[in-house]
Amino acid sequence: MKFPFNPSEIVTPSYLYDLGLLQKTLIRIQNCIAGRPFKVHYAIKANNDRRLLDMIAMHGLGADCVSIGEVKYAIETGFEKNNVVFAGVAKTDDEVMQALRYGIECIHVESMEELVNVDAIAQKMGKRARIALRVNPDIDAHTHHYITTGLSENKFGIDLRMADEAIKLAISLKNVELKGLHFHIGSQILTNEPFVLLCKRINAMLDHVREKHGITLKYVNVGGGLGIDYENPDSHQFSDFEGYFDTFARELKLEAGQEVHFELGRSIVAQCGSLLTRVIYVKKGVEKKFVIVDGGMNNLIRPALYQAYHHIQNLSNPNGKTERYDIVGPICESSDVFAEGRELPVTHRGDLLAIRSAGAYGQTMASRYNMRPEAEIYYIR
Ligand code: LLP
Repeated sequence: MKFPFNPSEIVTPSYLYDLGLLQKTLIRIQNCIAGRPFKVHYAIKANNDRRLLDMIAMHGLGADCVSIGEVKYAIETGFEKNNVVFAGVAKTDDEVMQALRYGIECIHVESMEELVNVDAIAQKMGKRARIALRVNPDIDAHTHHYITTGLSENKFGIDLRMADEAIKLAISLKNVELKGLHFHIGSQILTNEPFVLLCKRINAMLDHVREKHGITLKYVNVGGGLGIDYENPDSHQFSDFEGYFDTFARELKLEAGQEVHFELGRSIVAQCGSLLTRVIYVKKGVEKKFVIVDGGMNNLIRPALYQAYHHIQNLSNPNGKTERYDIVGPICESSDVFAEGRELPVTHRGDLLAIRSAGAYGQTMASRYNMRPEAEIYYIR
């Protein structure tokens, strides 16, 4: 990572965003979808930093939101209303009403119960709700079990075995307009195989909808999930967007006018963000050495919550000979660990560390636990 600041002048803990890298990422995506009936909605939950959102909206992406707060923010930021979709297993009536008032592109309905309720709310408001049904495609994405969502009997979406009934109901309801089907099989997926299986499942469903119900849906939304290389953030700055989009272009059997929608989060923003944190102490234990830093699980919870690997660099001593350390935060929880037994150049009190690939699900999952301050933010281009 090129680091243009003097490490000793940086306020920590802080997030550093490389807007130049984000822009290059967005251009790659634009190039992949050009000339194809593809539309990408950025999953705002991954990072809602205003400058990042501005840039993402400017590159023509839509927004995938999971609360009315995200919907409002997306619209305020400059995403077009008709490029905003709203998903989530537990939208309140008030959230549904507000979404209908905004007139967003689509509400993703996640259960039969919600379908009936959205219809009733739309009726009361004298509106017709544009919806897609989220179907759980029962595909194992081979990723961490906390971020696998596409297996059956999950809190997310409608079970595949109930999908036909839900489609029939949606078609029969007067105040909803069934625009499409929505799927999401999980996150941090590093092979195309689960996506190929998803396409096969979708093809079968689209055939079925056409033959049995006599309708052609406007779109299929295949969710997000494309993974990134956490181990080599410098040599692999970009996900395999080409392979990913080509897979859908090759495997999905679309009809004329049908679109594919994608909801990418991590692969758009993860590599452009780093958490910068300063070493408070290097504590010598009996068998271990602990690098104790001022950033913690309150700033970046992924290692504590998912045992996630993040590459860590010592920016104050980038090339020195290495030693093995446990890198831990200041929070009063033993899970507040960024890395165990990690080789780092010899590290001293006051050194500045960069915890890489923290642009996705870093700041948005942060908290003020232990009344710690929010991280500062720096941008580079
Ligand atoms: N669409 C839906 C319906 C989702 O649930 C998600 C992510 C996405 C799209 C975006 O997925 P992505 O392209 O970012 O993989 N906090 C976890 C990840 C949770 C993902 C939640 N859903 C982490 O830090 O790994």
